Amino acid sequence: MAFEKAPLELSGDFKAALHIIENEGRNVFITGRAGTGKSTLLQLFRNTTRKKTAVLAPTGIAALNVGGQTIHSFFGFPPKPLSRQDLKKRRNRRLYTRLEVLVIDEISMVRADMLDNIDWFLRINREVPAPFGGLQVVFFGDMFQLPPVIANDIEAMRFQLEYDSPYFFSAQVFQDSTFFLEMMELNKVYRQENRNFLRLLESVRLNRLDYDDLEDLNSRHLPQFEPEDFYVTLSARNATVDRINQRELSRIPLEEKTYVATISGQFNPRLYPTNPALKLKLGAQVMFIKNDPDKRFVNGTIGKVIKLDKKTVTVQIEQADGTPTQLEVEPMEWEVVKYKPSDKDPSRIDTETLGNFTQLPLRLAWAITIHKSQGKTFDKVIIDLGRGAFEHGQTYVALSRCRSLEGIVLKTPLRMQDILIDERVVQFYETHF
Ligand SMILES: Nc1ncnc2c1ncn2[C@@H]1O[C@H](COP(=O)(O)OP(=O)(O)OP(=O)(O)O)[C@@H](O)[C@H]1O
Ligand SMILES: [Mg+2]
Repeated sequence: MAFEKAPLELSGDFKAALHIIENEGRNVFITGRAGTGKSTLLQLFRNTTRKKTAVLAPTGIAALNVGGQTIHSFFGFPPKPLSRQDLKKRRNRRLYTRLEVLVIDEISMVRADMLDNIDWFLRINREVPAPFGGLQVVFFGDMFQLPPVIANDIEAMRFQLEYDSPYFFSAQVFQDSTFFLEMMELNKVYRQENRNFLRLLESVRLNRLDYDDLEDLNSRHLPQFEPEDFYVTLSARNATVDRINQRELSRIPLEEKTYVATISGQFNPRLYPTNPALKLKLGAQVMFIKNDPDKRFVNGTIGKVIKLDKKTVTVQIEQADGTPTQLEVEPMEWEVVKYKPSDKDPSRIDTETLGNFTQLPLRLAWAITIHKSQGKTFDKVIIDLGRGAFEHGQTYVALSRCRSLEGIVLKTPLRMQDILIDERVVQFYETHF
């Protein structure tokens, strides 16, 4: 969807959450189904709070998305498994002592051991022997979406010995009786409207699908369907995505033009939000990967290239009612930021820019992976699970990206075994909500 015209509804849930975080200073886990406005609420809090806040995320891409810093870089953790002995007191601790609120987005991808390291690091560096060194923590996420990554078998084994699950809620810090994490659920879904579709999504999320539900969803398996413009294929596997994008681009019998990014400072190539040498052709299907400050497009808007100029390109998008709109797109800037204590004002925390990446905010988007689609909203999707879903929450993430059931085309019929959920997550929600 191109235009976010609807104004933000400051619902009772939103107000209550903001009050609890801002005025009552409680520790909260804010959860809710896909599309209930978790990310929207996070931004709202960040833009209005008077507290000294750091917004962190488990992965580089997630951090860039919310304009925050990765957990690793904020705490200076090396990219390897850590134990308590590795966590030392820093010479310069002002950043950690001044901080008042630690916000973590996409908490479903944060591992339990990571949360324990954060806890321990803050106790040492704030010199306060209380959970998280007495800092207020606020977590956002939906545990029924994609889980944390466990790199290899050795890690998996270590985990089984030390933790009940890899999820953040199995961290040892929760056994401390002085620590209380309040749970808040956002209830209203803003991304979808249709009651029947919402009910089907809920059954997929909780793995309560019956055969009638499966049949309803499979009414969207359309074997004769020929991909039309503005349909984005959500695929389980990386290789499929690359193949589709390369194939579609090479099918266009026109000249290719390359747009080169300007990169400065420290910017890890693994974090580039799009290709630094972006190859486009007239007619290429693209996705915006940043929100427009003027609100003409959002991260996830799909369009088609209709003009290639020297520095800019023109992209045609469709509004919700199908009317085409043309947008001239200029390069935009991404920053790798770092929180630091302010030199001028001892009571403040500033952000420092470590590196910049300037490029057209576009990537080829005939297809993207379900992993990369997390957090986004689309009008028309083709879901291609290939040999089947292989990750907890994967099918739920794919289906819940789309605003309507009619906007979904299933490449292959869904099967019961494509719906994978983790019993430990079910149990956690049953205990707390
Ligand atoms: N309070 C609100 N009033 C109006 N629209 C909203 C509100 N909150 C969210 N939306 C809209 O609903 C859509 C989904 O919101 P958002 O991405 O914040 O949800 P989310 O809970 O983070 O979803 P996900 O779990 O998929 O990441 C967006 O298009 C957003 O603009
Ligand atoms: Mg979100």
